[in-house]
Amino acid sequence: MKIIIFPRATETAINRTHRRNIWKHNCDEMHPPLEIRRNGAGGGSSRERRLTMKATEELIQEHQNIELMLEILKTVSTRLRDGDAVPPEHLEGILEFLTVFVDKCHHGKEEKYLFRALEAAGVDHITGHIGVLIYEHEQGRIHVARIKKALAGTLGVPDMVEVQAAAADYVELMVQHITTENTDVFPMAEKILDSDASAKLCENFEKLERERIGAGKHEEFHALLETLQDVYLK
Ligand SMILES: [Fe+2]
Ligand SMILES: [Fe+2]
Repeated sequence: MKIIIFPRATETAINRTHRRNIWKHNCDEMHPPLEIRRNGAGGGSSRERRLTMKATEELIQEHQNIELMLEILKTVSTRLRDGDAVPPEHLEGILEFLTVFVDKCHHGKEEKYLFRALEAAGVDHITGHIGVLIYEHEQGRIHVARIKKALAGTLGVPDMVEVQAAAADYVELMVQHITTENTDVFPMAEKILDSDASAKLCENFEKLERERIGAGKHEEFHALLETLQDVYLK
């Protein structure tokens, strides 16, 4: 079975190990008590910047986990199109990750808190990327719905060609979306949000995670990514 990695052209053992370490680091560092994150922030003007970076760094770390799942999705959808079997629990796990981790949690943090904080600080909805980013979140939901619908199929017969096509559209969309946020939007946020806005973001991210994901769910996603990575990205 040829392994197709998207968007990267090649995959090495070093890269896989590096990503695994990133994910392990994320799980260890992404959800410390809020007090710990703040205590480590330092003081003075550097403290303001550190607090802001913490909020955006959390989102960047989540992007790394999302990118890993995008690679897995690309491989899984290609296998399905080629007629290879994929365990139902893997498909269910991937779809739950896209729905809960990516959309409810990550996009929720951005739409409900970060983007609103940026607009409150004077960033224009259109020229500041925000309108486009929200539109792209909506497009991502549509592509995930296409994947689910194609898997359910017509009269119980899945449409694997459509699954692969929808997955490819989703991956392409998310890769460029993440790039825009990492290179344009988050650096802008680090520059313009003051310490109060940053601290409030951190508080609200924590609150949203508790409400939308719940206790123990991040560990489940961690285990899922480890499992799927071993199966599909070797
Ligand atoms: Fe986003
Ligand atoms: Fe994002």
